[in-house]
Order: sequence, then structure tokens, then C-alpha cells
Amino acid sequence: MYEILKKRQLHDTVTLMEVHAPLVARKALAGQFIILRVDEDGERVPFTIADYDRTRGSITIIFQKVGATTKRLDALKEGDFIADFAGPLGNPSEFDGLSGKKVAIIGGGLGTAIAYPQAKALYNLGADVDIIVGFRSKELFILLDELKSVCSNLIVVTDDGSNGKKGFTTDALKTQLENGVRYDHVIAIGPLAMMHAVCVLTKPYSISTTVSLNPIMIDGTGMCGGCRVTVGGETKFACVDGPEFDGHKVDFEEAIQRSHMYKDAEGECMERHACRLL
Ligand SMILES: Cc1cc2nc3c(=O)[nH]c(=O)nc-3n(C[C@H](O)[C@H](O)[C@H](O)COP(=O)(O)OP(=O)(O)OC[C@H]3O[C@@H](n4cnc5c(N)ncnc54)[C@H](O)[C@@H]3O)c2cc1C
Ligand code: FES
Repeated sequence: MYEILKKRQLHDTVTLMEVHAPLVARKALAGQFIILRVDEDGERVPFTIADYDRTRGSITIIFQKVGATTKRLDALKEGDFIADFAGPLGNPSEFDGLSGKKVAIIGGGLGTAIAYPQAKALYNLGADVDIIVGFRSKELFILLDELKSVCSNLIVVTDDGSNGKKGFTTDALKTQLENGVRYDHVIAIGPLAMMHAVCVLTKPYSISTTVSLNPIMIDGTGMCGGCRVTVGGETKFACVDGPEFDGHKVDFEEAIQRSHMYKDAEGECMERHACRLL
């Protein structure tokens, strides 16, 4: 059992939880994820390691309440326990050769939480990091102070213009590129459509671009095939071969289509659990 050491509401639908999991914290690196079960009857759900503290033996996750499991998780309080917390899973981010280079990290919505450990690791490595984050509106801002502390330039955009510049992250990246900012590498984390659009932008400039894919995962061990994606014409499993891939090689059309596969089942599950969540 894994104790919840800290719980902080970042806003109405997004929660930060620090969980005591010393064995996971000992090996965790940026880019990896965990799979948890809230209780013994629970579904296995993956979450990115947003931060880790080897001294406290803790892992921080940041999650959005989107369905039955995330709502059950959010109902837990500090001092409560999570039944299973397995990890670290997946491959750590590869930052070879990026020390001293100019890197742009693009985070869309909750993708910002996943972008933060990447930015922190690259900044500590000596890269010159620009961060571009986008939210639907200012009420959904998360982690801006944390992001500011690990980059030389933080650009915030909102879809509705309620704060920061109005527009999408891709508009801000396009402006940077058109203004002559030369990035050696771009990392994009967020909705599939956003990551795809970033790759379309960076390709003509031949800027290598990494994306972090979050397909449906079931076992997290490469056995079930749930997280299958096509990269460079080859079948890959995001849980063991990723979750990060060369964005210019990802078949985004297929990934987007597969991401809608379980919509009906998720809706039914939400209805079944509704009484327990209220
Ligand atoms: C590697 C990886 C890292 C992730 N990191 C984060 C994170 O840091 N924070 C966060 O809020 N979310 C993250 N997710 C997504 C998160 O796992 C889902 O939001 C969660 O499983 C939703 O479960 P639910 O029962 O609350 O919602 P449901 O109603 O079951 O599903 C809502 C949506 O969540 C996604 N989803 C559902 N089940 C899974 C599953 N088993 N695997 C992957 N996606 C699923 C689907 O897109 C679905 O449409 C990550 C997913 C992956 C694969
Ligand atoms: S989650 Fe089963 S193969 Fe990746």
C-alpha cells in the first residue's frame, strides 16, 4: 500500500499527489510513468512521473479528473493509501547531445505537467530551454512558477486570450521560428492533434522533434497490444518502446483513430461508478 503524503488541488479538475513509493523513486527518471490501481477492484491506469524525490522516497503525479478512476483517485485524502503503484515504467527521456543546445518544450493543457520534468532535466543539463505552454483559458493554468524556474523564456498562450497571448502553442512556435529562433530540438507533449501540428511545423526546418504518446494502456508490459502505435512504418508498443518517439515518424492519423476506441465503454463505466463518486 502506498501512502498519499501530499494532495494539492491545482484547479477544479487537476490534482497533484505526492505518493510514498521509495522503490519507484529510487530509479525514476524524466519521461517515465507509473501504473496504479486505486483499490483492489480498480482499473490499472498510467500516469507520468511529474517529479520524484529520492530522499523522501516519493513520486509526484498530476492528474486530470476525466472518468471513473481519476475521480475515485481524487476522492482520496492525504494519509490515505493507494493499493498498487508500479514503476518506473517506459524509457526515460533521451537528452544525449542536448547540453548547451537550444530546445523548445511545448506543453498543451495537462501536457504541461508532463513537460515540467523534461524541462527541469534539460535545464539542469545546461540546455537553453524555451517553454511554450497553452491552455484553453487562464483558469486552467498550472505550474507556471515551476516552469519559469527551469527555462530562459516562458511563453504562455490561451485559446480565448484571457491571459498571455491569444492563440495555440503552434502559433507561438511558428512566430518563434519565423522570427529566426533556431531550435536544435523540440519536445511536444499534449493532445495528439497538437503534437501532430508541432511536427508539421518543425519538419520543414529539419528540427528533430520528440513527442510523448499516451495511448490506452492495459498491462504496461508489451503483452496486451493495447498501446500499439505505428512509428516509421513499424509497430511499436508505447509502454515498452516509448512513451517518447520521433514525432516525424509517428502515424498520427492511426493514433488519433485508436484513441477513440473505448469511448463507449468509458462512458458506461463512469455511469456505473457515478453513485459511488457523488
Ligand atoms: C504513459 C501515459 C501517461 C499518462 N500520464 C498522465 C498524467 O500524467 N496525468 C493524467 O491526468 N493523465 C495521464 N494519462 C492518461 C490517464 O491514464 C487517463 O486519463 C486515465 O486512465 C483516465 O482514466 P479514467 O477511468 O478516469 O477515465 P476514462 O473515462 O476511463 O477515460 C478517459 C480518457 O482517458 C484515457 N484513458 C482511459 N483509460 C486509459 C488507460 N488505461 N491508459 C491510457 N489512457 C487511458 C482515454 O483517452 C479516455 O478517453 C497518461 C496515459 C498514459 C498512457
Ligand atoms: S499496455 Fe499492453 S502492450 Fe502496452
